[in-house]
Amino acid sequence: MVVSIRSLGLNGISGYEVSAECFLSGGLPAFDIVGLPDAAVREARERVRAAVKNCGVKFPVSRITVNLAPANQKKAGTVYDLPIFIGILAAAEDLKKIPCDAAFLGELSLTGAVRGVSGVLPMALAAKGAGIRTLFVPEENAAEATLAGGLTVYGVPDVNALVAHLRGETPLCPAEPWSPEAEAEDLPDLRDVMGQENVKRALEIAAAGGHNLLLIGTPGSGKSMLAKRLPSILPDMTRKEALAVSGIWSVAGLTDPQHPLLLRRPFRSPHHTSSAVALSGGGPYLRPGEMSLAHNGVLFLDELPEFHRDVLEAMRQPLEDGEVTVARAGGTLRLPARFQLVCAMNPCRCGWRGHPSGRCTCSDRDVEKYVEKISGPLLDRIDLHVNVPSVEYEALRRKTVPEDSAAVKQRVEAARSLQLVRFSGTGVSCNAQMPPAMIADACALDAACDALMKSAFERMGLTARSHDRVLRVARTIADLEGVERIEAPHLAEAIQYRNTEILKG
Ligand SMILES: Nc1ncnc2c1ncn2[C@@H]1O[C@H](COP(=O)(O)OP(=O)(O)O)[C@@H](O)[C@H]1O
Ligand SMILES: [Mg+2]
Ligand SMILES: [Zn+2]
Repeated sequence: MVVSIRSLGLNGISGYEVSAECFLSGGLPAFDIVGLPDAAVREARERVRAAVKNCGVKFPVSRITVNLAPANQKKAGTVYDLPIFIGILAAAEDLKKIPCDAAFLGELSLTGAVRGVSGVLPMALAAKGAGIRTLFVPEENAAEATLAGGLTVYGVPDVNALVAHLRGETPLCPAEPWSPEAEAEDLPDLRDVMGQENVKRALEIAAAGGHNLLLIGTPGSGKSMLAKRLPSILPDMTRKEALAVSGIWSVAGLTDPQHPLLLRRPFRSPHHTSSAVALSGGGPYLRPGEMSLAHNGVLFLDELPEFHRDVLEAMRQPLEDGEVTVARAGGTLRLPARFQLVCAMNPCRCGWRGHPSGRCTCSDRDVEKYVEKISGPLLDRIDLHVNVPSVEYEALRRKTVPEDSAAVKQRVEAARSLQLVRFSGTGVSCNAQMPPAMIADACALDAACDALMKSAFERMGLTARSHDRVLRVARTIADLEGVERIEAPHLAEAIQYRNTEILKG
């Protein structure tokens, strides 16, 4: 007898439907799994055999063949344990008919406990798309599966409970749809930073328009401190944005079972020893890289010149198109990677160039060599270049408490809502992502601005790309003011953010 049990698999970060066809026939007892299984899928045989015995059913003495269809797609991991288990019981007629709109996924332990797996959110979304109505998942993943919406989700603790449910003996309770409780704010706040008004202004602009940002300053000037406070002023994610990045985190196995939906924009800060693969993603089981984990959020590279050159090169393409191309056996795969890049660096190797103490020991040639490490094309893709001066003693000792992040975030949200109206129906969500075709319209310049732009373009030797970037930043500055047209002061401020000494060599 052949039984087909519905399940789901992962291809990259998307789910797709898989059916586990189980066939019991006469002949010598054997147990085969076909359909391009990897080693982990093949080992399901041992786990399923033990789980069947441990739930008090006799393991069928027959020739068992399991086909995971579509048979031409590679199957990886342990999610197929549960559908294979159900398929064998149903084929041996130890279970009655399984509803045809139900699907199963989960790993089994030898004792029959059902263990959590990664990638449940994209698989649940695929289940919904395939018309599946009831989804059985490991108990640990139940909250995550409900995020797909429109599915009856059962969290299964162990196979005994599942068999009792399917036999109608002791029904399981469907999982409650997960919803976030109001969480206590524990992000680092801008109110801790004394002085540095210019840098805070640049952070606000970066947050409001989604712009890439480079902070340059001597050690201890507060670059890392300031960058880590960016998340506290970023606009909240829409549900669509949150689902997209939560799915990527899920595939990477980073989901917190109690909080399966990311509410805050991600802030990833890979160490400077990270490899290009760690940034881009890859490996036999396709782990999304830091650039994808930072999708819809921030990728922070502290001590930028310390990163390997190939890591920085690997970021160029994703910075342009919001996607990273990952090489895999048998082709390439594109993963979403639309992140806001924030970098911090010292002005020279010893770190003290430009400091009033005159401590810098670097020659001009040393400084050149140091800056050369970061390629021009990467710098060109960063909208805001900001000098972080050392804090003045008076600022540090001031009694007044600086403005807190909540107040800044309000202005950021207001500027972002103007952008949402501007870009509605286009797939663009903030000024930084504005394609060149839209710039002419959204960033129209009057005669005075045009003259200002022309002289800056010639004087500073801007490239066409940085010309567009200046206009996008000017648009954001105007949005922060709630002004329809870009005016000369907005443009002048935007130009100033591409005018740091250090980058002129
Ligand atoms: N503007 C500031 N206000 C208050 N504390 C500051 C300020 N700038 C620096 N600090 C203090 O100095 C420490 C070092 O700053 P950090 O961000 O690590 O510097 P950098 O990354 O530029 O080397 C911070 O943890 C903070 O305690
Ligand atoms: Mg630092
Ligand atoms: Zn130096």
